Amino acid sequence: MCGIIGYTGKLEAQNVLIDGLSRLEYRGYDSAGIAYFRENIAHISIRKTAGKVKDLRSVCDKVNPSTCGIGHTRWATHGGVSTTNAHPHRVGQVALIHNGIIENYAAITEKFNLGDELQSETDTEVGAALLNHFYSQDHDPKSAIRKAVAEIKGSFAFGILFEDRPGEIYAVRNVSPMVAAYDPEIGAFIASDVTAFIEHTNRYFVVPEYAVVALSPNGIEVEDLKGQKLTPEFMTVDWDLTAAEKDGYPHFMLKEIHEQPAAITQTITPRIADGLPDFSQDGVSDAFFEGVRDVTIIACGTAMYAGMVGAEFIQNHLGLPVTVSIASEFRYARPVIDKDSMVIVVSQSGETIDTLEALRLAKKYTDRTLSIVNVKASSIARESHYVVYTHAGPEIAVASTKAYTVQVATMFLLGFKLGLASGRLTEDEARDRVAALKAMPAHMEEVLAYENQVKELTSRMINAHDAFYIGRGLDYRVAMEGALKLKEISYIHAEAYAAGELKHGTISLIEKGVPVIAIANQQPVYEKMISNIREVKARDAFVILISKDKAVHDPSICNVHLSIPDVPDDFTVFETAVLCQLIGYYTSVGKGLDPDQPRNLAKSVTVE
Ligand code: F6R
Repeated sequence: MCGIIGYTGKLEAQNVLIDGLSRLEYRGYDSAGIAYFRENIAHISIRKTAGKVKDLRSVCDKVNPSTCGIGHTRWATHGGVSTTNAHPHRVGQVALIHNGIIENYAAITEKFNLGDELQSETDTEVGAALLNHFYSQDHDPKSAIRKAVAEIKGSFAFGILFEDRPGEIYAVRNVSPMVAAYDPEIGAFIASDVTAFIEHTNRYFVVPEYAVVALSPNGIEVEDLKGQKLTPEFMTVDWDLTAAEKDGYPHFMLKEIHEQPAAITQTITPRIADGLPDFSQDGVSDAFFEGVRDVTIIACGTAMYAGMVGAEFIQNHLGLPVTVSIASEFRYARPVIDKDSMVIVVSQSGETIDTLEALRLAKKYTDRTLSIVNVKASSIARESHYVVYTHAGPEIAVASTKAYTVQVATMFLLGFKLGLASGRLTEDEARDRVAALKAMPAHMEEVLAYENQVKELTSRMINAHDAFYIGRGLDYRVAMEGALKLKEISYIHAEAYAAGELKHGTISLIEKGVPVIAIANQQPVYEKMISNIREVKARDAFVILISKDKAVHDPSICNVHLSIPDVPDDFTVFETAVLCQLIGYYTSVGKGLDPDQPRNLAKSVTVE
């Protein structure tokens, strides 16, 4: 939700900011803007526009010698999409960029009588006015920030310029993510995440909450709200710029779909020792898995659907009760968990606010929280008792793909470990399953080779208004993710249904030509599934069948058959997921849409 960047140093700031914003655009792309010290003197200039970062370039000066500025790409929350509402916001001496929400903006406006100074409909402008109010008192940036954050309720990552302080940037955050970096040869950066400045430096630190950060070309100072100096903990990014670029693919989404086999190998290999699951490198002791009475998986969106697969797998194989909770529901419900409950929190970004708050709530009931997170040192990773990082590299397309399959793979491994710890799985059984998991990347490569076939069949989908994904057991759980992929990037209404449930209502929506993606990979219910498919085919649906059969020639079952490599039933989820992702991707492209930046969406949902 909104991307922010700030830079001061030796380079031309406008280039650094706009290049950084284009890599942060996955966080929001309604409008974009920059503020900088014109000619490096005590004069702030602002360029901003509704639209994407490429539109911002066209309203900026061709040559701009400024070496200090801040930039923002917006996902609208308060106030519509317009140039006036775009950041940076300027009030008096202050220019401000903001990721988050100032919840008490109305009360602040009234308390400090700021109404006359506001031009936009945004909460952020109130923040700028408040900072300006305090800055006007003693012209001390840190004191103004301290006083302002004491008034503000909500989440924020602020980047601030004060007009009479050329070359300096100030920053502070609560909840919303912010990282900072410094290289004496280049300068100092703040950003929502490291992709913004990875081109310049790979050493960074996570800005602590409620720390006041002062950037200058000579370095970064960090202090707490009492003025005590803090020593930041620097980390090194384990991927480089190429991981954050399209690398010859037309879209990040397609690149990330293709990266899945490698991402799974990278994620599971360090967690396998002697053919068995082993999380000791993550610091998770065997004791953590012992005596678990039930499991609750908490997440949002695709991560929650990954949780659905994990839950079905763990419950079916181990007989352990598993509940999957939507984070935004869990956090306002009464949790039925205690110290014997294991809570698994799943999040690619590690910053989703509902998931983070749900984790905080769960920690009040149990010391057994474990997160599955992709972004290192993110809030969820830091706050859970244990973290198992997925090694998928940066996921930039808004629609999640590789993060999903690595989350599922990690949950399978956790399931094997739980099975061993509880005596529900023998070592031999666990070994067999680990071996099957290790083989999945190669099978996913085989499925990726069907890309052209999938592309062809989506010509039958682009004019559809509705689509249905049906399956039983694990196939139904993958169907949920398949349906989400299609709807979020192609804007076709799609629903996942447990195949046996169709005739209880939904089948009335099936009419001639409606695409039905039918997944039939669970052998114990295979015949039942085929009967359900016949029911929709008999009503003239356009059926795409995904199954392990070598070939299906019966036209009363399907119009198109995608045959996947024969692996144990549970593991077909990886192959099916790839096909569903390709169906979503090529339908979106076939409709002339941009799958990387679907309307109304943003990655990393840091507002409730
Ligand atoms: C959909 C998608 C979202 C995210 C959800 C949770 O393709 O990406 O549904 O899965 O917003 O995000 P994380 O995993 O970052 O917590």
